[in-house]
Amino acid sequence: MEVLAVQEKIPCLDLSGQHQQLRREIFEAFEKVYDTTAFSGGSFVEEFERSFATFCNTEFAVGVNNGTSALHLAMLALGIGAGDEVIVPANTFIATAWGVSYTGATPVFVDCTSDTWQIDASKIEEKITNNTKAIIGVHLYGQAFDVDALSILCQKYNLFLIEDAAQAQGATYKGKHVGGFGQMGCFSFYPGKNLGACGEAGGITTSDLVYYKHLQSLRNHGSVVRYYHDEIGFNMRMGGLEAASLTIKLKYLSDWNKRRREIADRYQQELINPQIRMQTQPAWTESIYHLFVITTDDRSKLMQHLNEHNIFPGLHYPVPCHLQKAYTHLGYKEGDCPNAEYLAAHCLSLPMYAELTDEQVTYVIEVLNRYGHA
Ligand SMILES: Cc1ncc(COP(=O)(O)O)c(C=O)c1O
Repeated sequence: MEVLAVQEKIPCLDLSGQHQQLRREIFEAFEKVYDTTAFSGGSFVEEFERSFATFCNTEFAVGVNNGTSALHLAMLALGIGAGDEVIVPANTFIATAWGVSYTGATPVFVDCTSDTWQIDASKIEEKITNNTKAIIGVHLYGQAFDVDALSILCQKYNLFLIEDAAQAQGATYKGKHVGGFGQMGCFSFYPGKNLGACGEAGGITTSDLVYYKHLQSLRNHGSVVRYYHDEIGFNMRMGGLEAASLTIKLKYLSDWNKRRREIADRYQQELINPQIRMQTQPAWTESIYHLFVITTDDRSKLMQHLNEHNIFPGLHYPVPCHLQKAYTHLGYKEGDCPNAEYLAAHCLSLPMYAELTDEQVTYVIEVLNRYGHA
């Protein structure tokens, strides 16, 4: 085979292209925030909240300072606390479990399936006890989880359903954008997300007025009327600059997600190396491919091959939640969630961002198809 010309470095994610394109538009919006000094909360946050709620088909959205706070406040708004248990997938970013732990409740980890890599609904029931209060489903890598299966369990056992949609702004489940299927949807707008702020930010979507009001108070020192504090609250407000950048980026999100789908389609169709396996895409979801995760038997070898060709994949995530040191006290051991453990040891995230050129995608595919044949 012809040796490929090594291209410039291709990372897993590169934010510079998007931000150079939007430089003028975002700087103009920043000037407006600056001139009106609406730096914390205020009109720019409210404007973004309205547009994001519309985007998610929910009545309300509450802007907060990051996605971890969104999950924390969602747990508090549900009244979850010490002695309670919340079902969480073992295969997710750890912050899905943090909100549960911050309230004093216990995350109960459930394995993922071996093909969709989402929480395995058939393994949830055996983990439900009298203390279980909620299930957090995660739309992981941008692909919706099996909402109907989890909703049925929630109805049967009278549990709350929370969507961790941190990686899934614009992903669909049965044709509808995620964020409105449970009591609350929790989003991260960390810069690297498909919809990422110029700074840290997060948000909670809901159509329940009571949760909405409570979340607004909780993020603002437990206060509705200034300097009157109804409960112990937090300073978790969204900043004006972050909100202004998000309002602009939301206009482009569908196009960016479409481009990611095009790239994912090419990976799915043109990667023909049997040493590379991909996530199964159930018919119920249109993923936004926040990440394009693959698995392979010898990850270090593939990583080395890619690095030698100037491609730098990511690892999402090298340790499943139940085996993280932070959760040693919960007593999980290797073998408890075998599919999540397999993924942690064998996953790699391919380059995935809207600004990848067709030529770069072709190059990544060719390098991967040559793996093991050199
Ligand atoms: C699945 C998931 N949940 C929660 C979070 C937490 O969001 P943030 O980093 O904005 O606190 C993230 C962010 O990486 C995430 O990927």
